[in-house]
Amino acid sequence: MADGVRTYQQYIDGQWVPAASGATFPVHDPSTEEVLARVPDSGPADVERAVAAARRAFDEGPWPRSTAQARGRVLFRLAEQVRAHHAALAELESRNNGKPIVEAEADVTDVATCFEYYGGLATKVSGSTNPVPDDALSLSLKEPVGVAGQIIPWNYPLLMAAWKLAPALAAGCTCVLKPAEQTPLTALTLCGWLEGCGVPPGVVNVVTGFGESCGAPLVRHPGVDKLAFTGSEAVGKLIARQGADTLKRITLELGGKSPNIFFEDADFEAAVDGALFGIFFNQGEVCSAGSRILVQRSIYPRFLEALVAGAARIKLGPPLERATRMGPLVSREQYDRVLAYVELGKREGRLVSGGRRAPGFARGFWVEPTIFADVPNTARIAREEIFGPVAVVMPFEDERDAVRLANDTPYGLAAAVWTRDLNRAIRTVKALRAGVVWVNHMQPTYVEAPWGGYKQSGYGRELGPWGLEDYLEIKQVHINLSEAPIGWY
Ligand code: NAI
Ligand code: MG
Repeated sequence: MADGVRTYQQYIDGQWVPAASGATFPVHDPSTEEVLARVPDSGPADVERAVAAARRAFDEGPWPRSTAQARGRVLFRLAEQVRAHHAALAELESRNNGKPIVEAEADVTDVATCFEYYGGLATKVSGSTNPVPDDALSLSLKEPVGVAGQIIPWNYPLLMAAWKLAPALAAGCTCVLKPAEQTPLTALTLCGWLEGCGVPPGVVNVVTGFGESCGAPLVRHPGVDKLAFTGSEAVGKLIARQGADTLKRITLELGGKSPNIFFEDADFEAAVDGALFGIFFNQGEVCSAGSRILVQRSIYPRFLEALVAGAARIKLGPPLERATRMGPLVSREQYDRVLAYVELGKREGRLVSGGRRAPGFARGFWVEPTIFADVPNTARIAREEIFGPVAVVMPFEDERDAVRLANDTPYGLAAAVWTRDLNRAIRTVKALRAGVVWVNHMQPTYVEAPWGGYKQSGYGRELGPWGLEDYLEIKQVHINLSEAPIGWY
């Protein structure tokens, strides 16, 4: 490109190719609004080509027929490449998403760990024998589900790609991955190492495009056996409907309005710190963000004051600076959306911190850490996912009241509870309707542990052995050991 901006190609059937239409679109650096790169604007024809490649690779290619050990070794090699390019990947992720470099570095480490974990798990998939009451050997075999379509969001671009690709590859599936249109660069970078690590052509295909023109054809495609999605509740519901026509297996990891609950006996300093980290980490663009802060009334005024003081200390700055703890939001669309919720919040609650475009940045999508106090749980800002640095704080009276408020949401992805009373912690954990519950912490996520939501936060579980199960079918095999005829007629 004459302007020095790189145009990427997409990765289909082991080849770098432009969109069938030849069209491209720009991706931006959200801290400067500058064009960072251009990528193919892929549509149905590109999806067709990618699914055909994945189909061929699954139906005829070596990958599903390779040994688990061989697939595991390929995943280890991918992890090595990620580690070898750690700094460059983190920088690209930080530039494209706007997240602080130190957070992008942690993401890249998690990406490598994810490939390693599933590399190891590949050889632990085993079937079983069934104790049928006849002279027969009855087996349950586990087999790869087939071609997986994978649609991911922009908040953890490379990590979400790893969460999708690693278990699918371990299982022996082939994949068509569609990154978010805002942040496709790190997933494309990863494709550059696939062949060298031993991933055959067609096993991983990455198409870059928008939701309706590139995501939807993947969802509807009869050649796709499974669809894994992370993103908004609205699109999740659309996918559940559109995927129904071909009855593909669907897993959905959607949003939340996760409660972060603080009892009066909690370690005060750690609790305030945990409330801030729970919502402002990754600019609040986190599906499990602790966006509803529930505080026992006896400590409410002091807690609120400490929250406001803490929010004011958060270092907003250029994403690539190591001291930065908050960067810009990912896009103008998200910035507008978050600020619209802030305006709504001014009518629904009491603004006690932030609430504006962050000062000191000429361009880019900066929003101050924002806190609304005394918000009723019926308010829209207490019910709808904002996906930005906006917390609502509300008081509760006692344990019963806390649990009632916490569960009064259509979502059920995550929750956290802070207390030094062991019995209360366990009672609360058991009463919360959420797929992930933290005690005296919020947000740590491990590839070894299950991740996914209750209620309208979706269905299916990622990570751990659960994440692999969703890429497997079970085949019952009955082997008659008796020589006698059936003898029925
Ligand atoms: P989105 O759900 O529209 O985008 C996520 C992915 O789905 C992207 O790859 C997108 O291209 C794709 N997509 C969009 N429409 C599609 C369609 N009709 N068929 C197939 N794929 C489609 O999320 P968006 O618009 O970027 O953000 C809107 C809101 O969604 C956010 O404010 C936030 O509340 C929520 N969200 C939640 C995420 C989570 O991890 N839970 C991640 C991203 C957004
Ligand atoms: Mg959308």
